Amino acid sequence: MIQLAIFASGAGSNAQKIIDHFRNSAVINVALIACNKPGAGVLAIAQREGIASLLIEKEAFFKGDAYVPVLKEKEIDFIVLAGFLWKVPPVLIAAYPGKIVNIHPALLPKYGGKGMYGNHVHEAVIANKEKESGITIHLVDELYDHGRTLLQATCPVTATDTASSLAQKIHLLEHYYYPRVIEQELRLQKHS
Ligand code: GRF
Repeated sequence: MIQLAIFASGAGSNAQKIIDHFRNSAVINVALIACNKPGAGVLAIAQREGIASLLIEKEAFFKGDAYVPVLKEKEIDFIVLAGFLWKVPPVLIAAYPGKIVNIHPALLPKYGGKGMYGNHVHEAVIANKEKESGITIHLVDELYDHGRTLLQATCPVTATDTASSLAQKIHLLEHYYYPRVIEQELRLQKHS
């Protein structure tokens, strides 16, 4: 069984879709939800789904061992960032090289980097009168919103779109593609 950990900071709608997707899988198991925000929706999802959760703290994450021993002890093979707002520290990337995936709600390299998260992204896209936006699913390396792209998918941005209507379109793309891309990447890595 490949053991997945999902790292999330918010509502966790992507985490839920990933959990649903792998619920009956004989090869992939969502073993852990790691979260940096007490009270975040994703923690309620973990509880309802009977999945172990881990509340991560700033000090240990950035200045300590980044929970690597905990992850190894739980035999986590692969990490999925799903709306996780903290930058992944080098010690965690070194422990999971090529085995951390992220989703970004825009077409990187545009609208990435520091401060570009949540509605800030969609507001910037609309302010620049972009005709399309979308999602980028990529492996994580030491640079913010960087690393090999696994998939980009697009949606139109219309003149009447607001940050929230665009966010809805983006979420639909994320919910459809993220679980499938994770599954495909894990299959490829297994055979490489
Ligand atoms: C998603 O739009 C993701 O791209 C971004 O944060 C959002 C998380 O949403 N990184 P949710 O918590 O999965 O609903």
